[in-house]
Amino acid sequence: MAIYAVWNNKGGVGKSYLTFQLASEYARQNPTKRVLVVDLCPQANSSSMLLGGMINGENILNQIHSATQRKTISGYIEDRIRSPYIPTNTGSNYVINVSTYNSRVPNNLYLVTGDEQLELQASRVVSASFPGPHDAWRTVHLWINDLISDVCNSWNNVDTCVFIDCNPSFSIYTELALTAAERLLIPFSADGSSKRAVKAVLSLVYGERRHQNEPQSDFYLNSNRYSMALPQIYMYVGNRLTQMNNSSASAFKTVVTDIGDEIWKVWQTKPNIFCIHPNGSSTPNNKKSFRTMFHYEVNDANTASVVSGALGIPIAILTAGNKNVSGRTIKVNQTQLDKQVPNIVALAGMIE
Ligand SMILES: Nc1ncnc2c1ncn2[C@@H]1O[C@H](COP(=O)(O)OP(=O)(O)OP(=O)(O)O)[C@@H](O)[C@H]1O
Ligand SMILES: [Mg+2]
Repeated sequence: MAIYAVWNNKGGVGKSYLTFQLASEYARQNPTKRVLVVDLCPQANSSSMLLGGMINGENILNQIHSATQRKTISGYIEDRIRSPYIPTNTGSNYVINVSTYNSRVPNNLYLVTGDEQLELQASRVVSASFPGPHDAWRTVHLWINDLISDVCNSWNNVDTCVFIDCNPSFSIYTELALTAAERLLIPFSADGSSKRAVKAVLSLVYGERRHQNEPQSDFYLNSNRYSMALPQIYMYVGNRLTQMNNSSASAFKTVVTDIGDEIWKVWQTKPNIFCIHPNGSSTPNNKKSFRTMFHYEVNDANTASVVSGALGIPIAILTAGNKNVSGRTIKVNQTQLDKQVPNIVALAGMIE
């Protein structure tokens, strides 16, 4: 089993879109395994796409959210707010099989649905972690870990791959996700603020200091204090880099190179925070082989991406032609699909 968090401190870089595409494609490529998406974002964007997109997915989300028993991440968080320090073993009550609602996704794909109530619960989660018993911080930070264990136990520990979609801010939920995750996928886009956000990830999670005497995050300090493993960087994924037009192409290229350099610098001092892959590969010994292992790019597929998300049809099975999106006919071109489908298929193939 492997647990991946998809996180970047910057909004709108494609965390939810990539979670949707990767989880669906990984499930398609690995029909004998189970795939679990834990949507830890109050916006529930990946849940919406998985459940069928803008119309169907949103309707289903509304139904799930208005049921008396909330079968969502918030239902589980509520259990844990009531029992912060003793595991409730209730995680499996909150999982749904996505194909029951959306026939376009493989039937081995499961979801703990995102929920806007996470926002209302956040302050109670934080107060459960401090003050409290001496290891309250540690116990509360293991909640999502417990949730995933509950689900896997209920599946008799069949081989499972987990993707956790995070919200952009370094909220308590992001901390819980990063504690549960073994590996980190960092999507980024090619602009200046993305560069700052990648630096923020390195500093918030791994305690990298940008200036001397800069304070380190409580998350980093407490993870060390309680000897809790941090997720290892699996890949940083340049997303939609090709949306740039030619005149700005070289500026964007500089940003992508700068981000790569920043991460390369960290590799040189802290190689242990990176996950060597695929299993059995030799350790990169120069910048080129480092980049080959850890850097990946996913192209923009323009209208095809919009249609894929809006209809909840994973891009790898979306076909070219006219599609009905909210009563309007939208044309998907094969050339758009050809730009992104091979990226998603190959990226899912690199997930172990
Ligand atoms: N490779 C891509 N090609 C085309 N469109 C994309 C691609 N990746 C993401 N998008 C689109 O970009 C927008 C932002 O993506 P998304 O919502 O996944 O970002 P996010 O990082 O999850 O945002 P937030 O921080 O708000 O959670 C969405 O409309 C999504 O469909
Ligand atoms: Mg998102």
